[in-house]
Amino acid sequence: MPHNRSKDELHEFIKKLENQAIETAEERHPIYIKAGLKDSELVLDVGCGSGVVTKDIATHTNGRVIALDDSPDMLEIAKEVLKGYDVDIVVGDAHKLPFKDNTFDVVICNLFLMWVSDPQKVVKEMARVTKKSGRVVASLEPDFGAKIHWPPHPGVDEIFAGRAIKKRGGDPYIGRKLRMLFVNAGLKTEVGLGNKRIWSCEEDKASYLRSRTFYWNVLRREGLSDEEIEKWEKKHLESLEKGIQFNFFPQFYAIGIKI
Ligand SMILES: C[S@@+](CC[C@H](N)C(=O)[O-])C[C@H]1O[C@@H](n2cnc3c(N)ncnc32)[C@H](O)[C@@H]1O
Repeated sequence: MPHNRSKDELHEFIKKLENQAIETAEERHPIYIKAGLKDSELVLDVGCGSGVVTKDIATHTNGRVIALDDSPDMLEIAKEVLKGYDVDIVVGDAHKLPFKDNTFDVVICNLFLMWVSDPQKVVKEMARVTKKSGRVVASLEPDFGAKIHWPPHPGVDEIFAGRAIKKRGGDPYIGRKLRMLFVNAGLKTEVGLGNKRIWSCEEDKASYLRSRTFYWNVLRREGLSDEEIEKWEKKHLESLEKGIQFNFFPQFYAIGIKI
């Protein structure tokens, strides 16, 4: 459990993550079907984090699931989230997976490659522990650099189009690199757009209000004053309420067959 979190705060935090998983469920499920998750015997979820997506993976397969992350804090949360599910939890670094070659039918990750220091090494590791003819899957990896947003908010748009992610050590352009990463790992690769639907303004507004603190913290970290953020928020909410705001950033998937 992340330090200094009370039981109530932990419960709130888990609820927020579960909401996020619900929001992306309709995008991930077709990828699970395409990757043959249902009939896999052994599945590895790499970079499982809080386990909210692992739970979804576990309900979409008849097989056994192993969930791995390098953060003991996140794995404490995962233990709580995955109570009652047949999932084994393992602490480990994805750059050096603690499994033998050719072990899993499906090795999957979600919103993960953008956060690792050497994504090429990680995809090669994922391929190594996958059985021949098995699947390596990145279910959703965003490309914030390809974000489309209207009306414009100079001074803020560039923060959400990659700058904030870069500052936190993430790669905002991982989506466009998926094909290269999978092909270079020797996989027969298919890439596609995971989120094909443009959210309605009502959905965008509800999502913003749920994560309002997160957005404010990002903008504060970028040096905006509370007055500037309030000004931005007013315009942001106005265009959502008028129903004219357009907001889309692509999230890509890759499915690689080990040959
Ligand atoms: C954004 S979270 C995604 C969690 C989960 N897959 C989801 O979609 O909710 C990224 C996770 O990757 C983990 N992570 C980052 N680098 C890692 C590494 N080298 N090995 C294993 N896990 C790592 C982090 O601890 C974090 O829990």
